[in-house]
Amino acid sequence: MSVIASLKGAGKEYQTGDQRIVALQPTTLELRSGEMTLIIGPSGSGKTTLLSLIGCVIYPSQGELWVDGQHINSMKEKALAGSA
Ligand SMILES: Nc1ncnc2c1ncn2[C@@H]1O[C@H](COP(=O)(O)OP(=O)(O)OP(=O)(O)O)[C@@H](O)[C@H]1O
Ligand SMILES: [Mg+2]
Repeated sequence: MSVIASLKGAGKEYQTGDQRIVALQPTTLELRSGEMTLIIGPSGSGKTTLLSLIGCVIYPSQGELWVDGQHINSMKEKALAGSA
C-alpha cells in the first residue's frame, strides 16, 4: 500500500533561553493508506508534536520527513502552506 507519510529519525526540540525541551524524540515511522495507526503514550511524550509534524504545521529539528512524497525538510514555509 502507498506510503502517506514517512519519518526517519525525525524529532522536535524547542529552545527557550538556555533550556532545551525535547518535544519528540527521534522517531522512525511509515504510515500507509488503508492502515490504522494508534499513537499512544503518556502526557508530554510527543503525540501532538508527531501529528503536527505529519500535518506539516511544524518542521522537524532533526531527521527526515516526507508527506505525500514531498520532502518537508527542504520545503519553504510558503510552499508548505500551499501544499495541503
Ligand atoms: N511549542 C512548544 N514549545 C515548547 N515546548 C513544547 C511546545 N510544544 C510541545 N512542547 C513540549 O513538548 C513535550 C511534548 O508535547 P506534546 O504536546 O507533543 O505531548 P502529548 O503527548 O501530545 O501530551 P498530551 O497527552 O498531554 O496531549 C511536552 O513536554 C511539551 O511541554
Ligand atoms: Mg497532545
